[in-house]
Amino acid sequence: MSNIRKIKKISQSVPTMEGAGVRLKRVFGFHDVPQLDPFLLLDDFHSENPQDYLAGFPWHPHRGIETITYMIHGEVKHEDSLGNKGTIKAGDVQWMTAGSGIIHQEMPIRQDGLLAGLQLWANLPKSHKMMHPRYREVLSQEIPEVVIENKTKVRIIAGEVNSTKGPVQDIVIDPEYLDVTMETNTEFSHPVKKGHTVFAFTMQGSAYFDADKEQLVDSEHLVIFGDGESVKIQTTDTSARFILVSGKPIGEPVAWRGPIVMNTNLELKIAFEEYQKGTFIKHK
Ligand code: CO
Repeated sequence: MSNIRKIKKISQSVPTMEGAGVRLKRVFGFHDVPQLDPFLLLDDFHSENPQDYLAGFPWHPHRGIETITYMIHGEVKHEDSLGNKGTIKAGDVQWMTAGSGIIHQEMPIRQDGLLAGLQLWANLPKSHKMMHPRYREVLSQEIPEVVIENKTKVRIIAGEVNSTKGPVQDIVIDPEYLDVTMETNTEFSHPVKKGHTVFAFTMQGSAYFDADKEQLVDSEHLVIFGDGESVKIQTTDTSARFILVSGKPIGEPVAWRGPIVMNTNLELKIAFEEYQKGTFIKHK
């Protein structure tokens, strides 16, 4: 494949506290805007200690963004102002387009101890910030898995691998979201759209994300790629599991406070005033 992307930046996730006191690791966030445009934030919550996560994320609003929750282990109960209510189980994805506004809660359930998952925030362009909210629950069994040469397993949440398409489609930033597991001494090449932002986050093991194998990337690291038309990932004597995500940059001003991301500070002010007054929800 031509024009293989080089690595622009590698960073390690940072422990932080969110919600009602959930200990998690922030892979990227507020301080990384606009490096990952159209993506705003990625949180990695995984812990074997229920004290780290049981406080959960009680009722809170979102506007102007999409939140994408991917459960790896354990379960999260959710409920929202659209009337959705249910449990996101291991392997499931919740793709929530907050648009004009949603109020929801996300509460981890105590199980055998281990809870693991990722929450990604994707921005919406000005033209779609006030769109009707949309909620998509994708069950694990709806997510196709492609096996390449018996050595690389790819779960396709959004995007396409070897002509197999993921279930999440018609999203404004044209995203690709893959969960890739590679065995030892394996190569995985994948085409990506030129001009799109592409990043990987390593969940387990280690791999080379540059074709020249200059730097081995360990688990819990973010890799941001430079531009190009494909990525090439290689493992040596350890296997690796990572997500590979891409999306079309929006290129608009970002005004961000807490769970609400708009284009201007005035729009933020209005959103918080509406939340106080109880007029935040525009569409049920
Ligand atoms: Co939320």
